[in-house]
Amino acid sequence: MTRRVSRSTVQGGIIDLPYDVLLHLLAFLPVDAIVHLLTTSRALYSLIKDEQIWKEVSRRYGVHDARCFGNHSFFEVYTGLLHTYGCLIGTTWAGDHPFTGGVLQFRLDLEGHVRPRGIIGEIWAFRSLEPEEADAYPPPEPPQLTPAIFITFPDLLPADCRIASAPEPERHAQVFCICLCESAISDEARDIRPLYQKWHGAKMQVGSETTQGTLIHTRRGSSVHPDFPNDPRAAWYDPKRVFPRLKPQVFPIVDATSMLKNYPHLRVPELFATRTEYIKPRALTLRCLAGCAMRGSSLLTYHNHTPCAPRYYPLHTSTPHGIEPTASDWHPRSLVGLWLANYSYHGTECIFIAWDAQSRTLSGTKITGDEHVPRGIVSWMLDVSRSCVIEPEERSTCDRAFRGEASKYRLFRGTGHLSARGYITGEQDTPPIIMAVVGADDMRMLWPEDGDIFHYTRYRESLADVWRAEPGNVNAGEQILRAENGEG
Ligand SMILES: *[C@@H]1O[C@H](CO)[C@@H](O)[C@H](O)[C@H]1NC(C)=O
Ligand SMILES: *[C@@H]1O[C@H](CO)[C@@H](O)[C@H](O)[C@H]1NC(C)=O
Repeated sequence: MTRRVSRSTVQGGIIDLPYDVLLHLLAFLPVDAIVHLLTTSRALYSLIKDEQIWKEVSRRYGVHDARCFGNHSFFEVYTGLLHTYGCLIGTTWAGDHPFTGGVLQFRLDLEGHVRPRGIIGEIWAFRSLEPEEADAYPPPEPPQLTPAIFITFPDLLPADCRIASAPEPERHAQVFCICLCESAISDEARDIRPLYQKWHGAKMQVGSETTQGTLIHTRRGSSVHPDFPNDPRAAWYDPKRVFPRLKPQVFPIVDATSMLKNYPHLRVPELFATRTEYIKPRALTLRCLAGCAMRGSSLLTYHNHTPCAPRYYPLHTSTPHGIEPTASDWHPRSLVGLWLANYSYHGTECIFIAWDAQSRTLSGTKITGDEHVPRGIVSWMLDVSRSCVIEPEERSTCDRAFRGEASKYRLFRGTGHLSARGYITGEQDTPPIIMAVVGADDMRMLWPEDGDIFHYTRYRESLADVWRAEPGNVNAGEQILRAENGEG
């Protein structure tokens, strides 16, 4: 079948190409170039809603069948959803939540057992430890992916949970919050309603550069909470990341320092918004319209008075190929990337390891943190230029920590970073550490002064996937729903 785009007499012009050839050609062009081309002539513009063209473009994002999206055409799936939000698929972002931080990742969700199809944003949740685990803290555990954000066409939501007055025409996808929001749902309904009925509107925005910061106020004094990010060269930050096609918003800086005098007798430390020096780059912000703050973190016991939505920054997650430490071609560079480690009673935290070839140092920056050492802070530095010799007085601690296998490991000395709770200026300490690279994806960090040992495991996407596939690990809300649907 060779349908021609136009009967134009211009010889050799692109509009003279047979339809199939034109289609083939478009498959090699970036979307913006396709749109540009289609708007250059009336004849080409007649193809602007051509399903084959948008099918090809949607395929690039992993959407092969528009029937996933009800009656929406490929043209609508692209223009209403993928054009704005498609770049989020497969990306991971690091949140600036005070102390704890937070990781958010996006994927295309076409399974649709319990949800309509769309783009889902999942938060990495780490378990808080049970008191009985205090004697033998468990090794680092993979994150539990908790659904938090969903982007889809409002008409695909089941009829009984549609948002009454959709602010935009339904051919545009909207952002919904699906965090299990305690305040947005009444007590009696909480247990019986399916998860999706708790969905409520959310707002995703691109926030411009800002000097917004946080201040911590405690009985012992006040201190500016470390900015996140706080270093323009932070290795975890991915400067090439594409943001959703949303107009960047300038959020007014909130400075609540004058409110501090209203809080003279504190029972727990309180966090307030303030202005800081460091200019944080553009970020993704998420705000739940029902007020259930996705800024909340179950692990933070401090009162957070900051009204600001969390900002998410592009996080590098590509995993380099690990090299066995016994191999002759082993290089410190092979450790670069995201790791999971057990930070005693704080449970699992995410650390990004960076390599600086000039100073020959390895550093571990916290992507998630705790009330002692917050996200964004360098948790340790290692000097790779000096070989690590175990001193006689360290021998018994090392033998216990490394089970007498130390000769098979690569050992490095460095300094760790400790702080009193609250990370108030002047309450930090940098004791020595010994890092043992025990495998391509495995390390042990020893604090020789007290014999504590942190296990490090390289983060791999498959870790989280394994968790997702595990039937026993289904999110509680989904479990309720599956039970209701008779799916067991
Ligand atoms: C699609 O459209 C048909 C007819 O126009 C309608 O009967 C059907 O319910 C629609 N399906 C969905 C999922 O909206
Ligand atoms: C980390 O996990 C290992 C293995 O279970 C355990 O031996 C170690 O004590 C834990 N360390 C901390 C600091 O929790």
